[in-house]
Amino acid sequence: MSFTVAIDGPAAAGKGTLSKAVAAHFGFAHLDTGLLYRAVGAKTLIGVPAVAAAEALVPEDLLADNLRTSDVAQAASKAAVIPEVRALLLDFQRAFARRAGGAVLDGRDIGTVICPKADVKLFVTASAEVRAERRYLELSGNGQDVTRDGVLADVKQRDARDRDRTTAPLVAADDAVIIDTSNLSIEDAIARAITEISAKTDARP
Ligand code: CDP
Repeated sequence: MSFTVAIDGPAAAGKGTLSKAVAAHFGFAHLDTGLLYRAVGAKTLIGVPAVAAAEALVPEDLLADNLRTSDVAQAASKAAVIPEVRALLLDFQRAFARRAGGAVLDGRDIGTVICPKADVKLFVTASAEVRAERRYLELSGNGQDVTRDGVLADVKQRDARDRDRTTAPLVAADDAVIIDTSNLSIEDAIARAITEISAKTDARP
């Protein structure tokens, strides 16, 4: 039986950490949908048109080791504005969501467009400053040459582009539970998510 958890939110809100922890806790599969857009964005940086890159996307592309840079994130959010790109990535995401045994998908439009009937919808957010600080620590910890101001600018610019686009903009679904992690530890955020999901898994027939 399928059970779908949709986790959306702005850049660097901690969706990835939360999704991995939740998936491990419930034994669900996890798809970081941002990686699909990052893989397309990375191809555009080497001159491949975004639509052609989305058409030719293969699972191995998601394993490329350069996908976590700010340049690729920016390129991803530019490609993500293009409706054809989003349409090409839709079926793969929906099939993943339906897999037996349960699935967690994190992104921007999972609860609104990809899985509007998801069993649980969480919208994870935090102030831009808190998100940028976390991302700065992550990227600089990985040896990337970044500054706090540069990461904050990247986060704000992508949020604006993601929120203002016409197709599948970043917005919380009406029935999403909002988790603001500005003042929450990661452990508290995970506990909160597990409580929300358990309420629904326990209620299954
Ligand atoms: O990790 P972070 O939150 O910084 O970004 P990401 O989830 O890896 O997504 C990178 C970019 O892909 C975002 O800024 C969005 O423009 C785009 N994206 C999207 O449009 N829809 C999704 N479901 C996931 C990502």
